[in-house]
Formats: sequence, C-alpha cells, structure tokens
Amino acid sequence: MDKDRIEAVLKETRSFEPPEAFRLRARVKSEEEYEAEYRRSIEDPEGYWGEIAGELEWFEPWQKVLEWNPPHAKWFTGGKTNVSYNALDRHLATWRRNKAAIVWEGEPGDTRTLTYHELHREVSRFANVLRRLGVKKGDRVTLYMPMIPEAAVAMLACARIGAVHSVVFGGFSASALAERIKDAGSEVLITADGGWRRGQVVPLKEAADEAVRETGIVKHVVVVRRTGQEVPMEPGRDHWYHELVEGVEGEAPPEPMDSEDPLFILYTSGSTGKPKGVLHTTGGYMTYTFHTARTVFDLKDDDTYWCTADVGWITGHSYIVYGPLLNGATVVMYEGAPNHPEPDRFWEIVDKHGVTVLYTAPTAIRAFMRWGEQWPMKHRLDSLRLLGTVGEPINPEAWLWYYRVIGKERCPIVDTWWQTETGGIMITTLPGAHRMKPGFAGKPFFGIAPEIVDGEGNPIREPDQGGYLVITKPWPSMLRTVWGDPERFVNQYWSQYPGKYFTGDGARRDAEGYYLILGRVDDVINISGHRLGTMEVESALVSHPAVAEAAVVARPDPIKGEAIVAFVTPVGDVEPSEALAEELKAHVVKVIGAIARPAEIRFAAALPKTRSGKIMRRLLRQIAAGQEEISGDISTLEDRSVVEQLKKGK
Ligand code: WT7
Repeated sequence: MDKDRIEAVLKETRSFEPPEAFRLRARVKSEEEYEAEYRRSIEDPEGYWGEIAGELEWFEPWQKVLEWNPPHAKWFTGGKTNVSYNALDRHLATWRRNKAAIVWEGEPGDTRTLTYHELHREVSRFANVLRRLGVKKGDRVTLYMPMIPEAAVAMLACARIGAVHSVVFGGFSASALAERIKDAGSEVLITADGGWRRGQVVPLKEAADEAVRETGIVKHVVVVRRTGQEVPMEPGRDHWYHELVEGVEGEAPPEPMDSEDPLFILYTSGSTGKPKGVLHTTGGYMTYTFHTARTVFDLKDDDTYWCTADVGWITGHSYIVYGPLLNGATVVMYEGAPNHPEPDRFWEIVDKHGVTVLYTAPTAIRAFMRWGEQWPMKHRLDSLRLLGTVGEPINPEAWLWYYRVIGKERCPIVDTWWQTETGGIMITTLPGAHRMKPGFAGKPFFGIAPEIVDGEGNPIREPDQGGYLVITKPWPSMLRTVWGDPERFVNQYWSQYPGKYFTGDGARRDAEGYYLILGRVDDVINISGHRLGTMEVESALVSHPAVAEAAVVARPDPIKGEAIVAFVTPVGDVEPSEALAEELKAHVVKVIGAIARPAEIRFAAALPKTRSGKIMRRLLRQIAAGQEEISGDISTLEDRSVVEQLKKGK
C-alpha cells in the first residue's frame, strides 16, 4: 500500500463535474438517473439482468435468471446462446455488417481493418479449422499470441465451437506457458512466428516449442505468420495458420452453449506459488461485459474505441474483444510499445484513427508524464471524448495530467476498479453522471454491492474508515471456480467472510459513497498493472542453485506503481556479488517472464523471522522502501542484528 499516494488523494480536494457537452449526450445523464437505476438493479437483480440479457440473442430462453447457493452462482440457467454469435452474427443483419470491427495497427506501421462481415468470415473459417483438428466443445485451447487480429479471431473461433480458450500473455516465459498448458490440459496451441516490440521480434515460436516439449501433451500447434522470420516447423504437429484457413468455408454454425458452459480460463497470480485458472462462463460474462462496456465507455455507434491492454490480460478479454464487439463497436488494436519509434506513438494512433474513447493504465500515464508534454502536444487529440484507466491505483498527479494534457479538460475520466475474477468493471464513475474525484475509483456499477469490512467481517458503515473490500451479492460475470481446484475457489474468495466475495483489496468509502482503493492486502503485487504473487517470484528464485532462501516484497515505484525487491540468502559457499544479482534477475525472467524481473536483489546471511519461523514481510517492506526507522513491533524477531545487516546488504 502506497501511503504517499493515499495522502495525496486525501489532500486533493478538487473534484470535476462531467463536462456539460458530454453529459447531454451520455447514456446515463445524471446522478439521479444513476441512483434510480442502481436501486432497481439491487432491489430486483433478476428483473434487471433479465432485461439486459434479453437484448442479446438466445437460442433457447433461460428458466431462471439467478440460482444462488453461496458461493456458487448460476446465471440464466437453461438458456442457450453463443458469445461469438452475439458478437458477430447479431450485427450482420444490420447496417453494422460493413462497419469496422477491428482497426489494427502493427508496430512497424502496417494496418488492417476487418469489418464485422470480414471478422465473422475469419472467425468462422478458423472455427472450421479447429473443428477439423479435432477440437470439440469443452476442449481447452491455449493461445500465446502477439497483438494481432488473429488473437481476437482465435478467441472468438474457440467461443464459436464451445472450446475453452486460455490466453497466455506473450511476455510470459516458456516455462510459465508450459505450466499453464499442463494445468488446462490443452492439446492445441495457437501462436505466431513472433510479434513486434520496440523494433525487435518477440520469439514466441521458440518459447512455444520449448513449452510444448516440456508438456508432452500438445498435438497441434497453429502458427500465424506475422514477422516472416524463419521458425522451425515440426511436420505433423505444426501448421501454418494461413495454409489451414485457405479455401475453408466462411460459415460455421455456432455451438449452442449452455449459459453456464465455460467460455475461458485465464490464469492470474494469487498468494501461493501456483497461478490460478480463473474460469468464466458464457451467459453471465456475456451479459455483464456487454452492459458495462456500453455504459462505462458510453459507447455510441460512431465511436472509435481503443483499449491499450494486451489480450493476454482480462482487460483485453473483456474490453478489447468481448464487451466492445458485443456492442458492435469499432475497436482499435495496437501491436507494439507506446514509445516506438518515438514516445508519441499513442498520440499518433489517436489522431490517425480518430480515437474517441481511450482506455489505458496509470503506469503508462506516468511514463508519458516523464517523457514530457511535448510529445502529446505534437498532436491534435481532438477526437477524444472519454478517457479511462485500469489496473492499479492512480495517483492524483497522474490523473490530473491525463485530464489536462490528454483530455484537454473536455474529457471525463473513468477510473475502473475490477479484477480478473470479477470479469468486468465493478467500481467506477459513470462519465455523464458522476462528479470525478482524482484517485477515487468511484461508485459501484449497477447490480454491484461492495462493502467495507473489518478483520472480523463486520461492515464498516462510517465513512472514511479503511477496511477490506468485499462484494456481498453475486453478479453475472463473477468467476465460477478455479480450474481444476474447486477448493481453492472456496478458500481463496469465500472463506474469510462466509457468503461474501473477498477481493484481496483494502478500500475506504467517503461520505458521498465514493470508493478509494488502497491496494492489495495479500501477497499479491502489482507491477505496471500486472499482477504477480510474491511466492511465485520466490519459488523462481529458490529454483536457482545459488539460492538457499528468498523473500520478495514490493516497494513503491514512481512509474510502475510497485517494483520487486528480493531478499536472498545464498547457499553456504556462494559469495554474493553484483554478477550473481544480475544472474538471479535473468533467472526470474527465464522462469516467469520479463514482468517479474526484480528491480533489486539484496543479499543477507539470514532473513528476519519470528520465533515461530515466519518471515517478517512487513519489516522487509519497510527496509525495501528505504525506511531508516523500522516501525511496529519487532519483539518477536528472532535475531535483531539481521535488520542492520539487511539495511546495508545492497
Ligand atoms: C487488481 C486486479 C482489472 C483489470 C486489470 C487488473 C488492482 C485494478 C484498479 C483501479 C486501483 C486497481 C486491484 C485489483 N486494480 N484496477 N482502478 N484502482 N486498483 O486485473 O490483474 O486481476 O488485478 O488490480 O488491486 O485487485 P488483475
């Protein structure tokens, strides 16, 4: 938890009304409208969500909107539908048939536009290909892709035939990929010969090959040609995407899916070493992402919407692919880095494609601030009308910069709090309805019932008190389980406060009902909006032969939000050195991926432990943050000299 940020939020008393020009056209136009709809959504959730789901197409109607046997929720039971049908076919009978669905820009500057008609054809073709490879409803298909249209095509093709996709972020290492393939039991992997990042080719196929070797269960690897570089192709196992789809029919009947049939698995970090396969299902996820996307981003048919996330994260699933396409929106997709070839790439893209709604992360905004105002100033940015942020808490300074320099004080900002597990946006301001307070996420979305509780689970009703953030009612896109580990689902989310969903975040609510997210209260850290478990990094470190013991904590970082500091005890005869520190950093990158690279390794002869042997992380966090005076109780510390050593042990 970053105390400086929280202090800054509380000191920043300015608030900002939604610009009048925006409000007049907004979907939700006032606080009163929001209040009325919110009340209805809470008092009659079945009526409310039934009405929203009814705007989408169902092959067979549901019998019951909600069956709630805590912690198990079923939404739209008995209903049959298909998400790809709703995201594509539903638009083909309308004028949207020839509307741009995906406007893609590659890092080298190449572009492609797919209309809904074309996207439907591509998805159907690839759905047929997958069926021919033997993929059936319920089978898991892993994707390890760059940000190219085929990533969205492959996701939608899986959804079309009822296969469960598991997208693994292209920045993860071969061994992280292997672990996820094995856990999901995927026999099919979809990847590419590479992708572009800062002018370099990301060698996805190489990592994919290594992962496939390690798992021994993958039968087919489909490879999209993106960079054109030579990659080895294993006969019988590896297939070029363009060869598979050639001449294949562009119509594929969508599989009728039960509302509770799985749609996808997405792995995310928790407080143990092993990532969790968060499972989302069909009807509820579809309904919730459809409704949040249009409401929070105020989507209109003439919008050009750009979410800068990667499809490897939940943001990419819900707000690049599913939510916007379910609404028939035009979605911009960009392959590469924000500062390639120059730090104004994003602003160039905004002007080039006429982006109206931009959704990005605080870490990106802080990097733009550092690069300087001159870069956005080179561009008009006058197509923008709404800005969003997601992934981590935003500091008021970054909020105000975004508002002034990018939005020119014309564009409302939505600071959207949610999680992989929640499937969709849970707390935010609504852009035409709510006054904005920099640093506060805002108010609950329709149907969402947050609560702040103390350690015993008692609701804290007075304003401005910190506590744990829980959700007291089920919502359509909540995770249904942890893949292959139903106990972990119950233990992780529903056991702290029975009957309530535990978010893992701390929060406080002000007198007007605005939520301020304080940050994680568990062993999850947030680096540039990417979630990592401290235990994951620790187990990567101890897998190195020179490491006896490791403890990982986060320290506040001005750009990334948080950075990793690892305290390491080397094995007996190993001398700590700068070279070893570098080697260990590279080792973590190899085991997990570049996002997990420790910013700092500190060697110590021993780690501070309580007399019962528990590592004192609170103490390590203080040391990592450079605090001279260690506060709090250290009376249980076994060996006090350790603290002095660690402070020095750079
Ligand atoms: C964690 C979830 C949801 C998409 C990306 C991250 C933090 C997320 C905000 C926000 C403060 C935020 C929370 C949350 N977080 N959005 N607007 N303000 N914190 O998804 O990887 O599942 O991480 O990200 O700590 O628990 P995720």
